[in-house]
Amino acid sequence: MAAETMEQIVSLCKRRGFIFAGSEIYGGLQGTFDYGPLGVELKNNLKKAWWKHNIYERDDMEGVDTSILMNPFVWKYSGHEDTFVDPLIDCKTCKGRFRADKLGDSDCLLHPKLRPGQCEGQLTEPRAFNMMFKTGVGPVESADSFAYLRPETAQGIFVNFSNVLTATNRKLPFGIAQVGKSFRNEITPRNFIFRVREFEQMEIEYFVKPGTDEQVHDEFIKDHVDWWVDQIGLSRENIKLYEVPTGELAHYSKRTVDVMYKFPIGWEELEGIANRTDFDLGSHSRQQDTLGLSAKVKKNEHSTEKLTYFDHQTNKHLVPYVIEPSAGVDRGVLAVLTEAYHEDTLENGEIRVVLKLKPTLAPIKVAVLPLKKNEPRIVEMAKRLKNDVQRTGEMRSVYDETAAIGKLYRRQDEVGTPFCVTVDFQSLEDGTVTVRDRDTMQQIRIPSADLANYVRERVG
Ligand code: GAP
Repeated sequence: MAAETMEQIVSLCKRRGFIFAGSEIYGGLQGTFDYGPLGVELKNNLKKAWWKHNIYERDDMEGVDTSILMNPFVWKYSGHEDTFVDPLIDCKTCKGRFRADKLGDSDCLLHPKLRPGQCEGQLTEPRAFNMMFKTGVGPVESADSFAYLRPETAQGIFVNFSNVLTATNRKLPFGIAQVGKSFRNEITPRNFIFRVREFEQMEIEYFVKPGTDEQVHDEFIKDHVDWWVDQIGLSRENIKLYEVPTGELAHYSKRTVDVMYKFPIGWEELEGIANRTDFDLGSHSRQQDTLGLSAKVKKNEHSTEKLTYFDHQTNKHLVPYVIEPSAGVDRGVLAVLTEAYHEDTLENGEIRVVLKLKPTLAPIKVAVLPLKKNEPRIVEMAKRLKNDVQRTGEMRSVYDETAAIGKLYRRQDEVGTPFCVTVDFQSLEDGTVTVRDRDTMQQIRIPSADLANYVRERVG
């Protein structure tokens, strides 16, 4: 049942222009996906909802948009150069490379029905494989020209801590948020957009006084689960929390709670909420003291910034603790699609595929459909109405006349459009139109002049 749903979602995404395999015409590039016309709207709406909740609806948050390419020292002192590794094993027989802790998810290259090791293949011992992508910066390739593509957006926030603090005059506690691309050379990218090599993250680094961190951590866990449920529409029973055991914690974490979602592939991480302590700010600040380098070299090669906060109550500098909610945008999109995908059986026995998306997330909010495409006055009114809703309602609307009305409804249901509006002969007489609700399929008649408001009130 679950696997079936994933296949159905993947097929819908391709058919209706949500998500395509990356570089498809050249056979693809593993672990990459492209968002199509409807996918980009859905993804943008998810990011907008996150930004609204975490920035606009709070008084203690600032946003940034930092570079993907960073000085390699960032990754040295963040600990990623040494510890951002997965255990890699090779099969000497089929030459496959697999993640040692995910063998159950991998297929032998020669016998795809078997897992690595279940065949006659000879596996090597696991070795550490660093997942950061390397690239060259500048026209001359040398040992010094390399840089990493960031594997998390968080470091862009940490290295700008003092800049933001000075520019905004913030007092603790406050947070810095960012949405952006991250890159990981995953050994086994898998399961559509669930584990990919290029993805987006929505991250907050929330800076607090040491001692208050544990309470703030718990508050974020509750707030973010509530957001996924109330604002994004995931069912509470499809979410559970996973307390990451000490032995599995990332190198920077004192405690991490993963928000797990019941994807078609099973329970998997949607968002990680970590207590990163003073690890990152402390590490970026501390190394300048311990290296004992000259000021010039320090300036050029190493962070000379003390990433501290001056506490006016104690008249001392302190290194804030950090609570970090970090969610994957692509996993968010997959969770939303999983939750929204329905196949309803209609009274006549037909199957109706419908994406029951929260209206705020729906790529298209309104479809205006003429009941008679051969009647110029109906067509003219429908097109005018579509433009009015788009302009005055500031929402994505479409006009479609390319099929019979039943088929047009199905098309819009399948992509989650919450409202279909039909224009008919009565509309020409009294200026009213019918509005059909995607989920109940019930229709009501309203004055066309009220349409933009009617929809706006319901899509938030
Ligand atoms: N800054 C903390 C951090 O990056 P993480 O648990 O490694 O923590 C956070 O990643 C979130 O990013 C995950 O919960 C997941 O949603 C998303 N994510 C991580 N790796 C991913 C991948 N290869 N493909 C898609 N999403 C990924």
